[in-house]
Amino acid sequence: MKNSHEKVEKNVGLFFLFTVMAISIGGLVEITPLFFQKELATPVDNLKPYTALQMEGRDIYIREGCSNCHSQMIRPFRAETERYGHYSVAGESVWEHPFLWGSKRTGPDLARVGGRYSDDWHIAHLIDPRSVVPESNMPSFKWLSTNTLDGELTGKKLETFNFLTRNRSHKDENGNPIPLYTQAEIDGAKAAVEGKTEMSALVAYLQSLGHALK
Ligand code: HEC
Repeated sequence: MKNSHEKVEKNVGLFFLFTVMAISIGGLVEITPLFFQKELATPVDNLKPYTALQMEGRDIYIREGCSNCHSQMIRPFRAETERYGHYSVAGESVWEHPFLWGSKRTGPDLARVGGRYSDDWHIAHLIDPRSVVPESNMPSFKWLSTNTLDGELTGKKLETFNFLTRNRSHKDENGNPIPLYTQAEIDGAKAAVEGKTEMSALVAYLQSLGHALK
């Protein structure tokens, strides 16, 4: 009997086409239902927008590459929930742009690190991780305590988040979306962060993580 699949295996173009088709079908079957599950785009009840300072801290977290070593995604396994707390749910991430789930854990998951340590602990740890965790191989980020924020773009960032989350914000009793930030908060954003250290912004961000669902 002639092997008809030889035709595909000996023709790179055809083989490529069939591979793309197989992967596309697999992808669509997994991805399409997610567009129709409303709870994936609905914020959990207690979700609070970042304050201006936390928002700046989040950008420092991104800039310093913290997510290269830290995930923010607790998987629904017992080993994880006993160590880190409730597993992460989609409703906690609906306002994240970009999301910082990460994919590598050189250090522990930080999805619920908020409230686990004092501000002073975080500051000591970020300046010199070995001063509080002797065996740590996390790098020092000591410049954060001398760099200060000018707040030039902070209002713009809040405004942008209003736009990005416009279809996924909390709703009022009539079902109308409530923007994350009021105009007053946007106008006051620069004053709220100007002159503060990057360290205080990053620590404020870390302390905000994971409170919506404990
Ligand atoms: C090269 C990898 C690496 C990078 C980059 C890194 N960390 Fe870490 N981090 C670790 C390791 C390893 C630990 C565990 C040891 C320790 O507590 O210091 C840790 C621990 C932590 C902890 C304590 C978590 C807990 O539950 O005990 C926090 C908070 C933290 N890191 C925040 C940060 C922040 C914020 C940044 C970015 C400014 C950052 N890390 C960048 C590796 C890293």
